[in-house]
Amino acid sequence: MDYKVKDMALAGAGREELIISEQEMPGLMATRAKYGPQKPLAGLKITGSLHMTAQTGVLIETLRELGADVRWASCNIFSTQDHVAAAIAEAGVPVFAWKGETLEEYWDCTYRALTWPDGSGPDQIVDDGGDATLLIHRGCKAENDPAILDEPTDVYEMQVINALLKRVLKEDPRHWHKVAANVKGVSEETTTGVHRLLQMEEKKELLFQAINVNDAVTKSKFDNVYGCRHSLTDGIKRAMDVMIAGKVAMLCGYGDVGKGCAESLANERARVLVSEVDPICALQACMAGLQVCTVEDALPVADIYVTATGNCSVITAEHMSKMKDQAIVCNIGHFDNEIEVDKLNKWPGIVRKEIKGSFCPVSRYTFPDSHCIYLLAEGRLVNLGCATGHPSFVMSNSFTNQVFAQMDIARNPDRPVGVYLINKKLDEEVAKLHLEKLGAKLTTLTQAQADYIGVPVEGPFKAETYRY
Ligand code: NAD
Ligand code: ADE
Repeated sequence: MDYKVKDMALAGAGREELIISEQEMPGLMATRAKYGPQKPLAGLKITGSLHMTAQTGVLIETLRELGADVRWASCNIFSTQDHVAAAIAEAGVPVFAWKGETLEEYWDCTYRALTWPDGSGPDQIVDDGGDATLLIHRGCKAENDPAILDEPTDVYEMQVINALLKRVLKEDPRHWHKVAANVKGVSEETTTGVHRLLQMEEKKELLFQAINVNDAVTKSKFDNVYGCRHSLTDGIKRAMDVMIAGKVAMLCGYGDVGKGCAESLANERARVLVSEVDPICALQACMAGLQVCTVEDALPVADIYVTATGNCSVITAEHMSKMKDQAIVCNIGHFDNEIEVDKLNKWPGIVRKEIKGSFCPVSRYTFPDSHCIYLLAEGRLVNLGCATGHPSFVMSNSFTNQVFAQMDIARNPDRPVGVYLINKKLDEEVAKLHLEKLGAKLTTLTQAQADYIGVPVEGPFKAETYRY
């Protein structure tokens, strides 16, 4: 059986969910209609490591319609919608994902999504956070120097990855070199994944071209902002069913995601505090009417804490030990190290109780002084752990960029190793594909107007570096 999901009996419900999403994903549906007949991805094996949601289901079926042979895993242990995973498996896609995976299962799923039945790997990768890319790169490193797998580490997830790589190394000591040699490129979905790629490029460790989908304007200025505006409070409310109005919310990070989260909380009429390390972002928060302060300043007053930085140890175990009784703590950044969950678990005398189970993970931690805090989704992204992530319309923008990036890699398989942005005209094309659904009508420049402002009539309309 070349898939692993929770329950195939859920496939019918998952198909209904996909049908609803398709109606809200005009960019992907237009891409199917335009490129489907040409099959620009024919003969290409594509691995995806990206939240297995309804929106991702529509992406997967678009890639298939364009000719690709797709295998998929989620990029988070809590983000899979089991009914959708079942529907995608029923449609014949080898999908390895279920809600509530252990870390061992998660990395095994990533490995299986990267491995075709004949043992070969993908031609192209869709990554979200860089885990598929990491496994290949660390696998190659380990084949060059197996001793790296024995380097001591306190990070449990690294121990899990090392154990998996040791197993593969035993079976085939050149496996990852063969896989890497075949990969023509990766398209990366998120800010944190792009940071990882840029660090690898800087150290000259990157093994294939990478397309930075995140920094397409129609991705980071839409998904990260408007998507989180929708899904942050969705996650908090599904987890805690708490009234947010009137509460004091401490938001760490005021980048793209932070700006969407601030709106999400303010729209609920929370009183929002922001912490920032970047003076420009801090000033932007002030201009939005928000109070900028440190986490330490917020400890006596805040009821809700949200991290949105992509950084580590932003809320420490020490912070949590000093929070108000029943404070709610969550993260919407990609990885689970923004909140010091490991240290919290090891806090002397702490008592942890899981309240709801993996369908909506909420844990209560009671400190020895008897005050407690609620931690949502074990510190992993709350909008996908406790709710269903961003809605289809905004994901249609992100994923149309993904499909354009995959077609771009297919057209340019021999591009030199590096991290590349999406072409500006394609970025505008993505926006165009979403205007009609909203009843918007574009104005066309006259030639004289185009000459006057110095752009072509058909665009691009702003310079590549314009920040929006
Ligand atoms: P960004 O770089 O635009 O913003 C991050 C902000 O955090 C920056 O302004 C930075 O100055 C600030 N920051 C860094 N360290 C800090 C600290 N110690 N204290 C306070 N502020 C700090 O990045 P982004 O696009 O907003 O993404 C943030 C995270 O969210 C990333 O991990 C990204 O991958 C993830 N993301 C999640 C979702 C989701 O659906 N959950 C969607 C998109 C992105
Ligand atoms: N990231 C944020 N929301 C998402 C969703 N609904 N599907 C896939 N990835 C996401």
